Amino acid sequence: MVKKLYITTAIDYANGKPHIGHAYEKILADAMTRMFRLQGRDVQFMTGLDEHGLKVSQSAEKAGIPELEHCNNIADDFKNLCKNLTVDYDRYIRTTEPEHKRVVRDCLQKLYDAGDIYKADYSGLYSKTAERFVLEKDKINGKWPSDYGEVVEISETNYFFKLKKYQSWLVEYVESHPEFIFPEFRARQVLEFLKEPINDLCISRPKHRLSWGIELPFDSEYVTYVWFDALVNYVTGANYFGENFSDCWPADYHVIGKDIVVPAHAVYWPIILHALDIAIPKTLLTHGWWLVSGEKMSKSAGNVVNPLEFAEKFGTDAFRYYLLREMTVGQDCDFSPDRFAIRYTSDLANDLGNLVSRLLNMCHRYCGGAVKDFGPFGEPENRMRRLWETSVPEIISSYNEFAFHSALEKLFSCVRAVNSYVEERSPWKLAKSDGEIDRQLIDTTIAIISECVRIAAILLLPVMPTISKKILDVLGYGGEVNWDSGVRFDNFLAGNRLAESSILFPRVD
Ligand code: ME8
Ligand code: MG
Repeated sequence: MVKKLYITTAIDYANGKPHIGHAYEKILADAMTRMFRLQGRDVQFMTGLDEHGLKVSQSAEKAGIPELEHCNNIADDFKNLCKNLTVDYDRYIRTTEPEHKRVVRDCLQKLYDAGDIYKADYSGLYSKTAERFVLEKDKINGKWPSDYGEVVEISETNYFFKLKKYQSWLVEYVESHPEFIFPEFRARQVLEFLKEPINDLCISRPKHRLSWGIELPFDSEYVTYVWFDALVNYVTGANYFGENFSDCWPADYHVIGKDIVVPAHAVYWPIILHALDIAIPKTLLTHGWWLVSGEKMSKSAGNVVNPLEFAEKFGTDAFRYYLLREMTVGQDCDFSPDRFAIRYTSDLANDLGNLVSRLLNMCHRYCGGAVKDFGPFGEPENRMRRLWETSVPEIISSYNEFAFHSALEKLFSCVRAVNSYVEERSPWKLAKSDGEIDRQLIDTTIAIISECVRIAAILLLPVMPTISKKILDVLGYGGEVNWDSGVRFDNFLAGNRLAESSILFPRVD
């Protein structure tokens, strides 16, 4: 069995409605899944919901319903989001699943038996929002960071996981595995964080303070800390207890936002795995934040944009295109409805939509609706062939570097070049003469445009799966859809009848 490529997203907190940040992360992971599949990889793609902990318990209380019922409702919202965004996960994990609880308890027990978890009294400052103990030195200019929310003094007996013991191992690991954190600049932030001594991690919450969690296997007075529970989801999803665990594990990509890199994913998680003698995931693929007028979009800031509104108004694929075209993976990006409208009109409706509708129109008007064989090439035809022969590998390599914005930029510049080719050949002018040569040239021109559109559609697939399929359908293309032979420039459509018309991107007011 060849190991599958295993891609995960963060699991969202079940404490509010999904916003564009959540939508983006899932779309990014879905697009990665599709692009790897186009290159022949077998991919397992998992996303899910983070259902335990104080925040979830508080939001259930606010809704006036039991926690699980609250989580069921939110799971419906998030699954619905995925469905509406064509995010085709293979597994949706919920941390309240019995299987997951079993895995978490097994991990805790193993760490406890190995002596990596100990009991101690602790009094200190606790952030209610971040749900962890914090230190005076975390203050910025004498004030707690805003994402700490209320910070209170707490004194209690708890269980601690020996993080400190593994600090130097982790530093060495991060330094010797440059592929562990993408983009690379974030690895430097992790190493910066690790320059200071780290504290052992409090992994328990006494039930009298918080009961909504997974009970410790070695002390029924406590539940485990939500982050311990949440991180373990990735191994649960790979079938931790199963013989086929190594089909997926180690994960190839944990797709996560920059706010949960340090300490959760880059410190706690590799150390937990190392202590359990489980392989470390290959790459944390960390993306930036969607901002609204420069501020992070978040439930707590109350400035969220409902992703489904845009997807409904402009179409799911247009929404996916906007998010992946605008954001450079790793950087922040401002969400701008105006820019959305511009992208929609200029890239999608004008450049791509028009090209396809002109092609169909011309093919019916000048070629009886069917694509003919390539005739002799002139310089413009050779240019089109060369365009794709050089651009296809460049576009694929941008995708493979997770530079979706630049893959799309290159792809749409090809689409514009095809539009220029149409103008240059102007089949409507050629059609005015009855000459044999012009007849052949019209046929060739239409065949060339069809072939260009076919390749563009296959390259667009990870980002716009529905539009891509629609285009291939109107071309009557039933051949290979992959990034190997499927994107070779050849007369693949000769003999195909094209649909009469298609409006891919209708006008939106
Ligand atoms: O952090 N822009 O859940 P969450 C881009 N349950 N991404 C954003 C964003 C924004 N404005 N806001 C949030 C959690 N995200 C934990 C994860 S994983 C074992 C547990 C991203 O609902 C955020 O960075 O707060 C994270 O990757 C994901 O959405 C879920 O955030
Ligand atoms: Mg968050």
